[in-house]
Amino acid sequence: MKSPWILLFLGWLLPAPLAQGVSKPNFVLIMVDDLGIGDLGCYGNTTLKTPHIDMLARDGVKLTQHLAASPLCTPSRAAFLTGRYPIRSGMAAHRHVGVYIISAASGGLPQEEFTFARILKEQGYMTALIGKWHLGLNCEHSSDHCHHPKAHGFDHFYGIPLTNLRDCQPGHGSVFYNVHAHIPYGTLVATLATFFFLHATGVIAVSRRLALGLVALLIVALALFGLFVLTFPNFNCFLMRGEEVVEQPYVSENLTQRMTSEAVEFLERSENSDRPFLLFFSFLQVHTALFASPRFRGKSLFGLYGDTVMEVDWTVGQIIKTLERLKLKEKTLVYLTSDQGPHLEEISVHGEVHRGHSGIYKAGKSTNWEGGIRVPGIFHWPGQLPAGKVIDEPTSNMDVFPSVVNLAGASIPNDRQIDGRDLMPLLQGGVERSEHEFLFHYCNAHLNAVRWHPANSTSVWKAFFFTPDFYPKNGTACFHTHACFCTEGYVTHHDPPLLYDLSRDLSESTPLTPTTEPNFTSIVEVMVEAARVHSQGIKPVVDQLSVGHLLWKPWLQPCCSSLSQLCRCEQDHQKGSLNTEVEIHSN
Ligand SMILES: *[C@@H]1O[C@H](CO)[C@@H](O)[C@H](O)[C@H]1NC(C)=O
Ligand SMILES: *[C@@H]1O[C@H](CO)[C@@H](O)[C@H](O)[C@H]1NC(C)=O
Ligand SMILES: *[C@@H]1O[C@H](CO)[C@@H](O)[C@H](O)[C@H]1NC(C)=O
Ligand SMILES: *[C@@H]1O[C@H](CO)[C@@H](O)[C@H](O)[C@H]1NC(C)=O
Ligand SMILES: *[C@@H]1O[C@H](CO)[C@@H](O)[C@H](O)[C@H]1NC(C)=O
Repeated sequence: MKSPWILLFLGWLLPAPLAQGVSKPNFVLIMVDDLGIGDLGCYGNTTLKTPHIDMLARDGVKLTQHLAASPLCTPSRAAFLTGRYPIRSGMAAHRHVGVYIISAASGGLPQEEFTFARILKEQGYMTALIGKWHLGLNCEHSSDHCHHPKAHGFDHFYGIPLTNLRDCQPGHGSVFYNVHAHIPYGTLVATLATFFFLHATGVIAVSRRLALGLVALLIVALALFGLFVLTFPNFNCFLMRGEEVVEQPYVSENLTQRMTSEAVEFLERSENSDRPFLLFFSFLQVHTALFASPRFRGKSLFGLYGDTVMEVDWTVGQIIKTLERLKLKEKTLVYLTSDQGPHLEEISVHGEVHRGHSGIYKAGKSTNWEGGIRVPGIFHWPGQLPAGKVIDEPTSNMDVFPSVVNLAGASIPNDRQIDGRDLMPLLQGGVERSEHEFLFHYCNAHLNAVRWHPANSTSVWKAFFFTPDFYPKNGTACFHTHACFCTEGYVTHHDPPLLYDLSRDLSESTPLTPTTEPNFTSIVEVMVEAARVHSQGIKPVVDQLSVGHLLWKPWLQPCCSSLSQLCRCEQDHQKGSLNTEVEIHSN
């Protein structure tokens, strides 16, 4: 005989997977773009005020060796969402350009990949991405949305499919200025002059037609490049709501405010729903072009950059306050990170410093020195995670995938290699050691360095197979190319590898030698062997960042009006007038 009493009794006996009252937890995952670990109060900055983020760390767990799987946006985000090294999904470039810079390119996160959003959606979660995506959009026509967040499990999307760039804001210059800086104008002019001189003096004879043809070709090429730069904002800086382009190009000024109110509305909607939720809040900031809404401008000691960090912190505060107001704090795991280190080469056209700070760590974005990959890692979940705990074990942004999937009660796909590890035992204090004995640091598709945290040892060895050529003296690193490249001509190879022990030399200041480290040879041997075994396990896949997948394909161009109107759409109507800085419930 079945009686409800027996069921109730059984319910008592069965161990609850989590403390009572917690069914499926909610998730708010916050990613800032290009934020330096040294920009935050809780990571040692005493002059830039980030009280809300500091509070998250104080009431939660702070990771001090939290590592982005790549020092660049597109691959780092691919790894974060899939829990896999980006090379496994083809999201790691073999050439210079490691990220998407054109919205009408055909590359993107392949459909075969499982994101945690897709898995959670299948578990009944409400899922939303607010902010930056940067993992592709279309494959074959301008609205197939094969790489759109919706195709990867995000029901709701409000944000930009590409990335924020200098070109997206009038007066902030152009990222293509760097291309222009590489055009050898002097050589071009000298060649032309020599050519005309030789022709004029009769040394060589060139038909008038050929000469004119060449000049015309040059003019057309320059004009096309000029046109490309001029129209770039219209074609690439647009805002989408769901699958619709709602503002093209977007007006940045109050955008963080608008995204914040969108997030608050999403959280409020969950009140009338019995479904748990996943919110991925992915800031456009603090990537250039920097913008801060009027109430934050001029408020920090660090120019527009500092103002922007303060606005980011304010948004985090608004999200926490909303969770508090809706009595969701104990049911929600909040995570905050940055996709990589600060972009040290970012100096504005007027010479203003537009970069973050990597604290005591060496270099920044686009390098695998600690400054490029050691990012903030804060986990906050009152009642489930200890408050004020600091963990110095190596962890990765790929660990979020298995942690979130397990907490949601789903199973981790077992038909593929997942590189992340469930962090909950470490965060809750059940274990002391990270499961990552080895971590592999890629510069695009090139295996750049290995990290080894041997069992029974406090050492954290890091061996570089090559390092970027850069000028750290004035803090601008790879100034000439605006970012460090991983390819021949821009790097120095090391054989034997350049070895550091981060437990003794956090700033990677002095490489070890067989004299300073008696075990040098045996340590390097172990690491080289680990790299070999790891590399053997990488299966070849379609390169989603090949030239063909990065280029502008006009038939993929999203356009909210007509091409003759240059795709302009003045405002996001659904969000009402733009001329209001969103006022959010004061507490
Ligand atoms: C705080 O952050 C700002 C902005 O990145 C940086 O310029 C400054 O040096 C940092 N201050 C400290 C004490 O770390
Ligand atoms: C060293 O690590 C191994 C696992 O790798 C473990 O079995 C052993 O107990 C450890 N020894 C000590 C002394 O911690
Ligand atoms: C930094 O140093 C490099 C190399 O010496 C130089 O080319 C570059 O102009 C410098 N940048 C600034 C902003 O001074
Ligand atoms: C380093 O050398 C010491 C002493 O010879 C030895 O006990 C230890 O196991 C070595 N460590 C490694 C990582 O090889
Ligand atoms: C941003 O908000 C402020 C304050 O409400 C307003 O004055 C300003 O016009 C807005 N900017 C834009 C571009 O809408």
